Amino acid sequence: MVDTALAELLASLPSGVLGAAMRAAVFPGGKRLRPLLLLRAGQAFGADPQRLRPLSAALELVHCASLALDDLPCMDDAPFRRGEPSLHRRFSEATAILAAFALLAKAVGEFPALLRQAGLPPAYCEGWTGRLSQLVETLCEGQQLDLARHGTATVAELERVHAGKTGAFFAFAAELGAFVAGADPASVECVRSFARNLGLAYQVLDDVADATGGQGWEGKPPGQDARHGQCTFVTLLGVEGARQLASELLSTAEACLAPLSRRAEPLLGFVNHVRALL
Ligand code: IPE
Ligand code: IPE
Ligand code: MG
Ligand code: MG
Ligand code: MG
Repeated sequence: MVDTALAELLASLPSGVLGAAMRAAVFPGGKRLRPLLLLRAGQAFGADPQRLRPLSAALELVHCASLALDDLPCMDDAPFRRGEPSLHRRFSEATAILAAFALLAKAVGEFPALLRQAGLPPAYCEGWTGRLSQLVETLCEGQQLDLARHGTATVAELERVHAGKTGAFFAFAAELGAFVAGADPASVECVRSFARNLGLAYQVLDDVADATGGQGWEGKPPGQDARHGQCTFVTLLGVEGARQLASELLSTAEACLAPLSRRAEPLLGFVNHVRALL
């Protein structure tokens, strides 16, 4: 469902190499977790996923752009992404950078229309588009802190990095889904806190997978963080300590949903999915 919406969003692309690189940044896809979070959060409050589908795809464009930039030689210098050579290796560094910019511009540019199409009252569209731009800034800030944390870091510093890189995006996706579906403010806050903790757990387990080459590490060669001397929760707490932290974050995420009782069912699957990576 998300992939169909992505194909529709990418129906008109710049011609030639730039358009091809934009498409290659998005297809073949990964787990599409951020769009799915938006759809499931909406579903929890009665919104038809078909109605939110195009909006959810815009979030994936931002995510794919962030991965293309993250893999660049000046950042993580990653040779593979999603089982394929990374975008800059398939095209060039310059084209990968331009494709990422173009995808971000498309996501932000299309957002007001996609919000309206999803049924958001027009009075809210400007505010949520501003919040998407703010999210991109937060991702950049998290990434900047991440790149600066070679050598040593404290637990508090790593928490800020993870919150910026991953927690904020998961929280945004789920909050928007609940809001568009008309959830009351207290419920929106439950969903937001749930997704933030889920995102933090997910990033901790991504760091564990990088260290162990274990489950969940699809199409990315392990050992990249160590190769760059990057301090992760595995460096600070060891593999078992990091797993324990992720498990606690997942329990917190689950607890955030408790006030929603049966309504939370569409979202609980994410906890089980991430817990399976422990
Ligand atoms: C990769 O995100 C970056 C992290 C936050 C760990 P995903 O694990 O969601 O990547 P894809 O989209 O499934 O490839
Ligand atoms: C996530 O961190 C990066 C972004 C959110 C862009 P990582 O650098 O750990 O992600 P992977 O491991 O390359 O997917
Ligand atoms: Mg990185
Ligand atoms: Mg990386
Ligand atoms: Mg990683």
